[in-house]
Amino acid sequence: MSAFERFRESWVRPALFFGNNLLSLIGGALTSASAFVLTGFWVVDAVGHGGTQNPYIGIILDFFLPALFLFGLMLIPVGMVLRRSALRKVGRIPLAFPKIDFNDPIFRHGIDIVLVATFVNFVILGTATYRGVAYMDTVSFCGQTCHVMTPEGTAYPVSTHSGVACVDCHVGSGVGGYVHAKVNGTKQLIDVVRNHYPTPILSNDMLPPASQTCLHCHRADGWIGDKIFVETTFDDDEKNTRTRSLILLHVGGRAMDGQLSGIHGAHLGHIAYISTDTTHQTIHYVAKTEANGAVTEYMDTDAKHAKVGALRTMVCTDCHNRVAHSFETPEKAVNRSMLAGVISPDLPYIHKESIALLKAPYASRQQAQEEIAANLARFYQTNYPQIWQANPYKITQAAGQLTVLWSQNVFPFMQVTWGTHPNNLGHNDYPGCTRCHDGSHNTASGKSISSDCSTCHNVLTIDSTNRKQIADLGVQ
Ligand code: HEC
Ligand code: HEC
Ligand code: HEC
Ligand code: HEC
Ligand code: HEC
Repeated sequence: MSAFERFRESWVRPALFFGNNLLSLIGGALTSASAFVLTGFWVVDAVGHGGTQNPYIGIILDFFLPALFLFGLMLIPVGMVLRRSALRKVGRIPLAFPKIDFNDPIFRHGIDIVLVATFVNFVILGTATYRGVAYMDTVSFCGQTCHVMTPEGTAYPVSTHSGVACVDCHVGSGVGGYVHAKVNGTKQLIDVVRNHYPTPILSNDMLPPASQTCLHCHRADGWIGDKIFVETTFDDDEKNTRTRSLILLHVGGRAMDGQLSGIHGAHLGHIAYISTDTTHQTIHYVAKTEANGAVTEYMDTDAKHAKVGALRTMVCTDCHNRVAHSFETPEKAVNRSMLAGVISPDLPYIHKESIALLKAPYASRQQAQEEIAANLARFYQTNYPQIWQANPYKITQAAGQLTVLWSQNVFPFMQVTWGTHPNNLGHNDYPGCTRCHDGSHNTASGKSISSDCSTCHNVLTIDSTNRKQIADLGVQ
């Protein structure tokens, strides 16, 4: 007997004989169906048409389908072993295993089952996978379905980048970015299912380089020049006095003559730093590479840290870290709503009361809604009964808006509250620019990174209540 014949006699025929049972046949059908679906998606991915960038799809394509494939594969020997022991019990194991015979109705019946089951499985699996993949590709999946993303998913629709998909900033281009994102996405989904994720989720330098995200749509050194910036605030007095600040920001860029200038020109590519925390709020070492390659080093004189830690080159997101999902301070949120009139500036002390109510701790939206409404009503009933009687509507509207502001910025279940996600653009709400430009980051010879107001902007008017002066500047 040749080796091939021996193999056929002692392995193939017994395998086919014992394998002719429902469990093994279903296993075979599952395996082949998931293999078909997987191959289909791999081909689509490789060819690049209709492929997807979504990091979480890995859980279906790299995890669920392969798991089903293996599960089906395992069912086959399990079914065989079960059938063998069942037959042995009744003493019906044949001495010679039947030949492979397509005329044998039992054998044909087995093949029919496999074919039909494979087809049915293929249709079901294929449709389910296709729908799952299409669904996971939507912004609503990233921002809403996955509850740990609720803070970002809430802030995103009202941002300047609400038209830009999450994956356009969070997944790098090319094969590297794709694989990296998928491995990470699968890990994150498993973490969420295991209920094992950080609260709050802080940015951790996982963002792909700007060249693969921001610079697909923006130019690194486009000329922006000067930009007027108007900030309206209300005071804490009874009349909620309205004040205005106006600055002329020197954003700069690369001018016609090729020179870099202004805020954009000063940093791109030539400033690097070391920070002591994950969100880079405390910076103790800064290095500037001059045009001739020389490096100027600035050390924070207050924090006597040594030059240890990872050196990070400044990129767009070191300043624009909240472009797509920005959270407000209570002051900013209230000022904005008062400017829009949703919280009426006519209500005495409404600015002061609103901020105090927003800053109070509430365990849930429900509680925030009830307590804000009750406390605001009580304030006016006690102190301004005639206003409460004449205008209860304005007060309930203000309370309603405060609840909205609270629920857009505070997420107790993720431990996200006012100030959890600092905004690095500016210096009034968070350290921002003054993480370095604070006058205490000095070179060995004592030269500091400039903190002179006019380095960054001319202050045209600050906290001005003079409406005529503001109007003369042309501001509405
Ligand atoms: C225009 C680019 C952009 C888009 C679009 C975008 N993000 Fe972000 N995302 C960022 C930046 C920048 C950071 C902060 C990175 C840093 O500070 O290092 C960030 C950080 C995060 C973080 C970490 C926690 C935090 O808030 O800092 C999460 C979670 C996140 N994004 C989720 C999302 C989700 C969900 C969407 C879609 C609904 C989305 N992002 C869309 C740019 C973007
Ligand atoms: C898919 C294209 C796209 C990507 C990617 C993108 N942006 Fe934008 N960005 C836009 C568009 C379009 C606007 C104008 C939106 C408007 O005016 O409503 C804009 C506006 C801006 C603005 C001005 C408005 C503001 O929010 O202050 C800044 C700053 C900005 N982008 C920075 C970034 C940064 C930083 C990144 C990378 C993290 C980035 N963008 C990624 C398309 C993009
Ligand atoms: C040192 C901090 C800093 C860095 C780094 C930085 N920016 Fe800016 N950028 C600013 C400031 C400040 C403004 C003006 C304030 C504003 O628009 O709200 C601005 C404005 C902008 C605007 C709005 C321009 C307009 O016409 O309204 C865009 C777009 C922008 N930056 C994109 C980028 C991109 C892309 C990068 C990375 C290549 C980048 N910025 C790097 C600080 C920075
Ligand atoms: C990581 C540290 C760091 C941060 C954060 C930072 N800068 Fe700078 N910036 C520097 C250094 C270092 C220089 C170079 C100083 C020098 O050459 O004297 C510089 C230079 C500048 C200059 C040019 C100064 C000049 O004399 O020409 C401007 C304008 C500027 N920064 C604005 C900003 C603004 C606006 C922000 C916040 C949105 C900001 N910077 C955030 C480190 C930083
Ligand atoms: C390193 C750069 C830098 C320096 C130095 C600087 N500022 Fe600013 N400042 C900014 C930027 C950037 C913004 C715009 C923030 C934004 O886009 O939200 C700003 C905004 C402001 C605003 C209006 C916005 C607000 O939130 O109230 C005022 C007022 C202001 N600065 C005052 C000053 C004064 C006064 C000084 C000097 C003591 C100063 N700044 C020094 C970068 C700087």
